[in-house]
Amino acid sequence: MEAKHIHFFLHDEEYTVNVADITPTTTLLQYLREFEHLKGTKYMCLEGGCGSCIVAVTAKHPITQRKITFAVNSCLVSIYSCEGWQIHTVDGIGNKQIGYHPVQKVLADFNGTQCGFCSPGMVMNMYALYKSNSDLTMKQVENSFGGNMCRCTGYRPILTAFKSLCKDADREVLGTYPDIEDLDKCDRRSCQKKCRSTKCTMKPISSKILRSSGLDIKWFKVYSINEIFDVLQENRDASYQLVAGNTARGVYPGSYMRSDVCIDITSVKNLLNDAVLSVGFTIGANKTLNDTIEVFRRTSKTEGFSYFTKLADHIELVAHVPVRNIGTVAGNLSIKHEHNEFPSDIFLILETVAAKLTIVNNKNKEEQLSLLNYLTYDMNRKIIKSVTLPKFDKSYKYQSYKIMPRAQNAHAIVNAGFLLKLDSNNVVQSARIVYGGINPSFVHAGKTEKYLIGKSVFENTTLQGALKALDEDILPDDVLPQPSPEFRKKLAISLFYKFILSIAPDSKLSPENKSGGLQLQRPLSKGVQDYQTNESLYPLTQPIPKLEALGQVSGEVEYISDMSSFDEIHAAFVTAKAPANSVITKVDPSKALEQNGVLAFFEAKDIPGLNTFIPSNANFPVTYFPRDMRVVPEELFCSGTVKYYFQPVGIIVAATQELADEAVDLVNITYSSGQHKPFLTIRQILTANATDRIIEEASISATHQGQDIKHILRGKYDTTWQYHYHMETQICYVVPKEDSLDIYPGTQWMDIIQTAVAGILNISENKINVQVKRVGGSYGAKITRNALISCAAALAAYKLQRPVKMRMSFSANMNVIGKRFPSATNYEVGLNDKCEIQYLNSSIYFDYGAGGNDVAVMQAMGTFYSSYKYDTWNVSGNNTRTDNHSGVWARAPGNNNMLAMIESIMEHIAAELNKPPLEIRLANIENKDLLRFIDELRQWSDYDNRLKTIEEFNKSNRWMKKGLSLIPMTYPFEYIQTLSSTVAICAGDGSVMVSHGGIEIGQGINTKVAQVCAFTLGIPLNLISVKASNNFTSANNFTTGTSLTSESVCYATLRACNVLLSRMKPIKEKMNNPTWEELVKECQNEYVDLTATHMFSPNDPPKKYNVYGVCATEVEVDILTGTYQVNRVDLLEDTGDSMNPYIDIGQVEGAFIMGLGFWKTETIIYDDEGQLLTNRTWNYKIPGALDIPVNFRVKFPRNNPNPNGVLHSKATAEPALCLSVSIPIAVRHAVTSARASANPTAPSWYPICGPSDVENTFINSLNDFKQYKL
Ligand SMILES: Cc1cc2nc3c(=O)[nH]c(=O)nc-3n(C[C@H](O)[C@H](O)[C@H](O)COP(=O)(O)OP(=O)(O)OC[C@H]3O[C@@H](n4cnc5c(N)ncnc54)[C@H](O)[C@@H]3O)c2cc1C
Ligand code: FES
Ligand code: FES
Repeated sequence: MEAKHIHFFLHDEEYTVNVADITPTTTLLQYLREFEHLKGTKYMCLEGGCGSCIVAVTAKHPITQRKITFAVNSCLVSIYSCEGWQIHTVDGIGNKQIGYHPVQKVLADFNGTQCGFCSPGMVMNMYALYKSNSDLTMKQVENSFGGNMCRCTGYRPILTAFKSLCKDADREVLGTYPDIEDLDKCDRRSCQKKCRSTKCTMKPISSKILRSSGLDIKWFKVYSINEIFDVLQENRDASYQLVAGNTARGVYPGSYMRSDVCIDITSVKNLLNDAVLSVGFTIGANKTLNDTIEVFRRTSKTEGFSYFTKLADHIELVAHVPVRNIGTVAGNLSIKHEHNEFPSDIFLILETVAAKLTIVNNKNKEEQLSLLNYLTYDMNRKIIKSVTLPKFDKSYKYQSYKIMPRAQNAHAIVNAGFLLKLDSNNVVQSARIVYGGINPSFVHAGKTEKYLIGKSVFENTTLQGALKALDEDILPDDVLPQPSPEFRKKLAISLFYKFILSIAPDSKLSPENKSGGLQLQRPLSKGVQDYQTNESLYPLTQPIPKLEALGQVSGEVEYISDMSSFDEIHAAFVTAKAPANSVITKVDPSKALEQNGVLAFFEAKDIPGLNTFIPSNANFPVTYFPRDMRVVPEELFCSGTVKYYFQPVGIIVAATQELADEAVDLVNITYSSGQHKPFLTIRQILTANATDRIIEEASISATHQGQDIKHILRGKYDTTWQYHYHMETQICYVVPKEDSLDIYPGTQWMDIIQTAVAGILNISENKINVQVKRVGGSYGAKITRNALISCAAALAAYKLQRPVKMRMSFSANMNVIGKRFPSATNYEVGLNDKCEIQYLNSSIYFDYGAGGNDVAVMQAMGTFYSSYKYDTWNVSGNNTRTDNHSGVWARAPGNNNMLAMIESIMEHIAAELNKPPLEIRLANIENKDLLRFIDELRQWSDYDNRLKTIEEFNKSNRWMKKGLSLIPMTYPFEYIQTLSSTVAICAGDGSVMVSHGGIEIGQGINTKVAQVCAFTLGIPLNLISVKASNNFTSANNFTTGTSLTSESVCYATLRACNVLLSRMKPIKEKMNNPTWEELVKECQNEYVDLTATHMFSPNDPPKKYNVYGVCATEVEVDILTGTYQVNRVDLLEDTGDSMNPYIDIGQVEGAFIMGLGFWKTETIIYDDEGQLLTNRTWNYKIPGALDIPVNFRVKFPRNNPNPNGVLHSKATAEPALCLSVSIPIAVRHAVTSARASANPTAPSWYPICGPSDVENTFINSLNDFKQYKL
């Protein structure tokens, strides 16, 4: 039977899509955005890794026929899979017309949005949970957001918001946000349309259906196994793919959905059934992972299957809820079959318990295979029908482990499954030891399995023998970006030890080793937000959510990717895939240009003006470049010699972004190798003494040296890169106009777009109209770097005279754009016996890569020394030029490195002098403000008592250790920007429009501006509307950055309002107590100019000030795995009188969690040619919802106005990020205790370079299996 249409419901409307118009490779996401122009659903990674594209689906369960609602990643689902579905998107569940859904409303009210780009995905994930379970618990909610990434908020307010909808919602956990009672359970106003809840139709059709498409891909929907084989028989010579959840494309993009024939098997009941058999339990191979969890939990109550609980626990660590909702067991096993290196968790657990697969071939012949045999079995035209798991009595001991870089949604670094059958004397009868993540062919630790048979397992001699056998069995491969083979081997061995500890009877264990058998337990997270407001100033100081929040949670606000015009075309960078210093000898785009839909290729020689996106006339503030540094021209397109791996060489312009992204790989570039090997790290430059690559940028010199020198210590400390991970990747949309270009860039700095595009095109700046409404996350990446994308898009638009949108893919964005500066320091410190520093000599180096315009050393150096007495310090701050992409400003740029450096030095001193680190710090601080805040935090966090408790805990536990740190911070701020605000009062009704030169990047600048405007004019907040920023009303403005923009723009707004008030004053005096509207009308009648502008500059009264902060962080480390959790954070930040505590708390929490990612989960790996290897969500992991502190307490000191700032406030966006260095320092505290047990003579100080990720933490703990004892 041939069907010409696909039917589904979108919201409540029935849709019929003609298959001739759409191909099976079209995703649901593309359909929603490009065919239906529903732009509420966002996207970033297109591989199931970020969650921004999540939508909810209601469909009949193929077995139970019950209607269920579940979340899916719309970027993974083929539109052809949507037959019979009812699809709910963020645009449909609530909006300003029909009222907002409670899920949307709570997210807005609890201040759960910042840039808002993740918000639609968050809402829809929660919507699906909410719809599927009316008895949701807070724990379920908290565990269900592993697939939703948010870079701005730090998750705490999002989780708090959604937990408020749970049956067990608890005031203590929810903190100080709105009363739950105030949030209507359903706030939707009367909907025009009647909800037709029975709309989901899954027609039970019993014969296969063919749907063809223009691309000659045939799509069959089948209902039985026989039909699968019929299709395969009819299409004997065609390549084929079975389509279940279709999620494998997220793991290996490019490997799936490329076949001639797709067979949709989701309705084949024989692949979904489960049954208890005499020999065991059978589940259908295409059961979804979440259904499998459910079945395992249910069946675990049946005798012989209690171990299913552990299988279910393990599967909950696979991917995340939306992938598990549709991804299947057989799909997962097939990935492992096709890509043996894939560390499949499903394969691991099933092989450990000796499950059997039932394979069917086209003759309907069934065969049972072990999973091991399946790996090498020819699966061509065969299907996995079911999996049979055995029964185990109590003599079987089963456990599995998965060690990941973050708590959820990450593949295993190493996973392990253990199954022992013991007799009544604990002698091993049989053993299965399975590992993933070792090498592609490794499955069983065969020697160890053999060794164990017949041995009494709870004996130290047996244990050591087994560990030794494992040492021989496990031979990890060395393939970047995987963690080192040394670590993976040791980890695999220690997991076996952990297993033995976990099953050994107490009588066999020494008490201090017991903790080794445990796993970190994460309670429900909670937080405290402690701040003061002044009601007499409201709306100033009032804690209100962002003005745009409801628009963000409903997908109504527009981002640049949501803009479109009927004739737009798209562009993508062609990049150099060669190490720096290679020379391009030929660029041949002909193959790419032959592709249908590819329109043009432009390279350096096509640029009419200057080939640089950072022109020499860029309006950096005069105080900006230190010493004799100058603007460094950075090429738009490589003009010959490659400056860094993945440098753009040109752009392909095509009809769609997808086509452009694909065609770039068809441009053939040939190179001759460079004369010099690239310098890729600061240490390489220092070792080679390449002084021409080092520039001293700033320094401080000692006024004298202390004479009481009793101790001298020397050391070094290095930090690495961090990717910004803005959810909206770099983007620009350019529309040619009659005499100019309208440019909509995702930038933090409009002015540089104007000067750079004018320079590239060789036209005057007044022909460039720049407008920015909002940016979907930036964190510094879009200050100078967006000019690269904007210039490229503008070139294409100018040349082709068509609107051009250029949006970088996640991988291209990571490859091409630079990251947080790596840094290095060498130091020497002299001290007296009272721990007072007598002198400190330090050379600091930052890696600016091939750039040099995002400078940070001079601006950030104050964070290195300002907390301490530094009159005996000589500090030289240098930048180095490696052959990497440019170092780029990233939230708290440089300050983060500087604080980490000095606090690491303090830790070094404490370790060498064997003193508590806080004593060292206090001996060298004299700033009274900082001392006061340290005291306050010490008390608020109960630091001293907790420290004692932790020392006791560490004494009695060998393998679980805790650490507690207390870090002070001084973060100097100085105004360097020019930023304007224009305020216009509408005479008709007295409402007010504001347009300012800052950019709304999620930090809530518009909300603060509106609050200041309303406060100054003395009118209600709802009269204020903040418009898009543009380069006409805010000409010559500097960037949004350095955290000071909100304040500067608020000041400009205040001044503009004051101008208006003074113009209105004489009119008001002539009137009798007029209302605002009457006054405005009268002013208009008297020809008063009701528009005023002020440009803030460093000449205005606000002057520089310090932000102080103190943070106590407690961690708990599992020494045997290197994983750890942050149990509690007490963070005090001096914010002056916060203009809006909701927004400022959000900034502080979000910044801290970005820092947490830097130290804990985000490991960046390059190869030795400088090619980035971690450029996917699959291998670059920012923290998720379960990585944040279990108890996150934030306090703004009371009665603490800032005399130097704007309206007594202080900046908040960046400083808290630096305080996250308290995490690796707390980890060091824990690890130091483990090191002391491992080797009492080990040096007390050890440098930690790079992040305290799982590998570093494990290796630094001196894990050695020879020490593993019962
Ligand atoms: C973001 C993300 C994170 C992930 N994290 C993890 C993780 O931590 N651990 C882990 O183990 N996995 C992980 N996965 C993998 C995930 O489990 C698989 O993508 C999923 O199980 C595949 O199932 P599917 O139904 O979507 O397969 P599909 O994509 O539909 O199909 C994949 C392959 O399986 C074949 N196939 C499907 N059914 C059968 C059958 N019955 N017989 C023969 N061949 C069949 C198809 O022909 C196709 O080749 C992750 C995936 C994503 C996208
Ligand atoms: S865009 Fe779909 S998960 Fe990232
Ligand atoms: S608000 Fe979540 S990514 Fe910006």
